[in-house]
Amino acid sequence: MINIAVFVGSLREKSFNVSLAHTLEKLAGENVAFHYVDINLPLFNQDLEAAYPAEAQRGKDIVEAADGVLFVTPEFNRGVPGVLKNAVDWISRPWGKSSFVGKPTAITGASVSPTGTALAQYQLRQAMTYLDVKLMGAPELMIAGAGEAFDENGVLTDERWLKNTKAFIDAFIAFVEHQK
Ligand code: FNR
Repeated sequence: MINIAVFVGSLREKSFNVSLAHTLEKLAGENVAFHYVDINLPLFNQDLEAAYPAEAQRGKDIVEAADGVLFVTPEFNRGVPGVLKNAVDWISRPWGKSSFVGKPTAITGASVSPTGTALAQYQLRQAMTYLDVKLMGAPELMIAGAGEAFDENGVLTDERWLKNTKAFIDAFIAFVEHQK
């Protein structure tokens, strides 16, 4: 079994990125288990590190137990949603005890605009490179026009995006297996 820690960068109930994560989970097959990290964490404050919040510690435990890490994120104002960056900051701490080091990692996302989360993904790549993960370079998956790609039930119906999504998850699972 391959265990993947999954961060979805949106708290919205009908989030396209939640739908994308579920699509990736389904396409990954039975040999892969997705473990969702709750990113609804307190705002990071270094003073709180002394008594690490249990919910942040749970996120660290999920990442540490995982074979790989997958980010599925929207883009807000041409960058990483604050709520997701906040979770990354928690899980990277305390200093010297980041849970991310060496983890095979991939980044994807969906947005309603034509830019398809490209800028958010590249901003997140910057943080994850610094955090010393093993980052998958290609293929990239940046779903643009999410409003048309998914139906009202959150099913990815667009054939072209579906094909690219399958290629992306297959490549990531092979990448994780290769590092095991
Ligand atoms: C957005 N959206 C957006 N989209 C994009 O491609 N680039 C951007 O810079 C932004 N900026 C942005 C800022 C804020 C504050 C909001 C609320 C939205 C639109 C975004 O793609 C859209 O709301 C997605 O549906 C969000 O993803 P979820 O919640 O559906 O997963």
